[in-house]
Amino acid sequence: MNTYFRLAVVFLGFAGVAACWASAGEGADKPIIIAHRGACGYLPEHTLEGYAMAYALGADYIEPDLVRTKDGRFICLHDIQLQDTTNVEELFPERKRGDGKWYAADFTLEEIKRLSVHERLPFRFPEGAASFRVPTFEEMIELVQGLNKTTKRQVGIYPELKAAAWHRSEGLPVEETFLEVTKRYGYEGKDALIFVQCFEQATLKRLRNELGSQLPQIMLVGGGESNASLVTPEGLEAIAGFAEGIGPDKTVIDENPDIVTEAHKHGLKVHPYTFRAEFPGKGYESVEAELARFFFEYGVDGVFTDFTDIGVGVRDRGAP
Ligand code: G3P
Ligand code: CA
Repeated sequence: MNTYFRLAVVFLGFAGVAACWASAGEGADKPIIIAHRGACGYLPEHTLEGYAMAYALGADYIEPDLVRTKDGRFICLHDIQLQDTTNVEELFPERKRGDGKWYAADFTLEEIKRLSVHERLPFRFPEGAASFRVPTFEEMIELVQGLNKTTKRQVGIYPELKAAAWHRSEGLPVEETFLEVTKRYGYEGKDALIFVQCFEQATLKRLRNELGSQLPQIMLVGGGESNASLVTPEGLEAIAGFAEGIGPDKTVIDENPDIVTEAHKHGLKVHPYTFRAEFPGKGYESVEAELARFFFEYGVDGVFTDFTDIGVGVRDRGAP
C-alpha cells in the first residue's frame, strides 16, 4: 500500500469511526485509553504522582500492577521483585534470596514504605531526582476516587494480578483478598468501573466461577507461538466463558487483525498493549501512526499506553 493510499484509508477510517462514535452519543463507544503503569512516559512507573498525572492527561482507566507483601497487603509494583525500580539493595543488602533478588513477599509494608522508587527505563525520568514511594492498592484507589469526586469525572481502575500461581505457592493467594479490597471500595458487579486483568486463566476462572465475581475481566495474551491457541475462534469462545475481553500483545493483532472481528463476534473487547512513544511497532514511523491504525483500521476497544496524552490525542483528533 503506498503512503497516500494508506493515509486515505486511515482518514476515511477515522471519519467513519468518528461518525459512529458521534451517533452513539458523546464518548459512548470510543476506545478507552488505559494509563499503563500510570504515566511512566513522564514520571516513575507505579507512583501516586504518575497516576495523578495520567488522570489529568485524560485517562479513562488507570493501571496498577499488583503484588503482595509479606504481611499480605497489595502494593502497586510491576515485578514480584523490588530491585529494578527501588533502592532495596542499598537499604536491605542482606535480604536477597539465593538467586540474588529481593522479593516483595519477603518484606512488610512498613519496610517497603521506606524504599525510594525510580523509573525503570534510564532514558525517562532521572533516577535520584525528586522522591517517590511504593503505593498500596488502597492508596491508588483512594487517589482515583478522590479525583473522581473533585473533577466529577468517572475514571476507572484496571488492576493486573501478577504471578498469581507464584503468590499462592508462597502462601499469599491473591483472589479472595483482591475481592475483599475492591468490594470495600465499592467495585461490585458487571458495571463497576474496573477491569481485572491477568495472564493466568486459572485466576480469572477462580474469580468468576468459584468466588462469584461479576467484575469485568480481561484475559491477557502474550506474544509468540505458545499463546496462539488463545486467539483462535475456539480459544476466543473459551475465553468468553469467563472474561469480557482480551488484552493481547499488540504484535498479536498486527500479525492478524482479523482477531479483533473474531473477538467481537464472541462479545469480547480487545485492549492491546503497550504503545510507547520511544518504540513504535515494527513498520510504523511513529506511535501516533501506529495508534491510528489500531483505532481506525483494526477497530480495537482500547489501548494500554505509557503516554495517555498521545493516546487521547490520536483517538479524538487522528494522527498529526
Ligand atoms: O497489563 C497489560 C500489560 O501491562 C502487560 O504487560 O508487563 O506491562 O504488565 P506488563
Ligand atoms: Ca500490566
